[in-house]
Amino acid sequence: MKGLAHALALVALLAPSKAALRFGCSTVTIQRLDPVVEPGNTPSAHLHQVVGGNAFGPVMNGDIGEQGSCTTCTFSEDFSNYWTAVLFFKHQNGSYKRVPIMENAALPAGINGGMTIYYTQQDFNTNGKQHITAFKPGFRMTVGSPMQGADGLTKHKGLRFTCLENKNTRFPEISDFPKQACKGGLMTEHHFPACWDGKNLDSPDHQSHMYDTQPTGFAAGAACPSTHPVRMPQLAYETLWDTTQFTSMWPKDGSNPLVFSFGDTEGHAYGTHADYMFGWKGDSLQRAMNSSCMFTACENGKPLKSQSVAEMNKCSAKNVVNENIDGWLDALPGRPKGT
Ligand SMILES: *[C@@H]1O[C@H](CO)[C@@H](O)[C@H](O)[C@H]1NC(C)=O
Ligand SMILES: *[C@@H]1O[C@H](CO)[C@@H](O)[C@H](O)[C@H]1NC(C)=O
Repeated sequence: MKGLAHALALVALLAPSKAALRFGCSTVTIQRLDPVVEPGNTPSAHLHQVVGGNAFGPVMNGDIGEQGSCTTCTFSEDFSNYWTAVLFFKHQNGSYKRVPIMENAALPAGINGGMTIYYTQQDFNTNGKQHITAFKPGFRMTVGSPMQGADGLTKHKGLRFTCLENKNTRFPEISDFPKQACKGGLMTEHHFPACWDGKNLDSPDHQSHMYDTQPTGFAAGAACPSTHPVRMPQLAYETLWDTTQFTSMWPKDGSNPLVFSFGDTEGHAYGTHADYMFGWKGDSLQRAMNSSCMFTACENGKPLKSQSVAEMNKCSAKNVVNENIDGWLDALPGRPKGT
């Protein structure tokens, strides 16, 4: 018995650690399209900022990894699409302006807007020893919802904001829009659930095929439940919004001028949402998850192919919805004036 326990402990110790990915993707389009929640709608209800493969469009089916010709992500085999709502500044005179996206300080210089994408497992600093099953072609999911009630705050510990002192600020994470202009801008964080039901590539609400066991942010997730037994990569997005150019126009009366493109003015982090459409080529994501690399060490064919910032920035998705989204606007794109 003692010998067996000892042998099992040794096996556990020798089990190879698994990969964790963190990489930048520049903006591939900012458009009113949503192939997951509103397939076929041109335009969709509200504006999204999107990164990843250039096959992004109103309707997306099949193996996205085999569609499109380029990606805005560092890893050139990743044709997935990642998107969130867009942040606007509402001037006291009633006009709106889109808040530009700035690149993360942790990434190579020159990335055009975009997001930082994570496929982690145990926690932020450690890649774990558990087997991670990569998403499959056709897989998609969303996290958060503009319809969420206040229970979203406890249900979605992975949806948060950070008021940036500078681009490296990470704490504290806050659950509502900041009460004042932040010196270095605002970061939004979207952490997705990582336990899969093992059967469905999607579900009617785009969420119930997945289950979240992460206590908060980049912390280690608890074991997956029997209803959703398959451990997948812990996917997360960070978006840095350059609110600093609006600081001089910030309302003096303490009212909140920030509004998401879906018309939310309360600014509860749990009202934000993010979408994911899997599109890694072939078995590239599984190969990465099986390896032991971490962050930039996974680049240059070890084991993932990567590309330069110039190549990332060159890639863009087709403009299907032609409307003005920049400059001062009378109303949020697709929404009645004043909302
Ligand atoms: C609101 O203020 C901005 C910035 O000064 C200005 O460009 C815009 O035209 C104004 N809108 C209205 C409706 O006055
Ligand atoms: C990943 O690891 C699993 C378990 O060891 C193995 O069955 C699978 O073939 C590996 N996949 C790739 C693409 O390396």
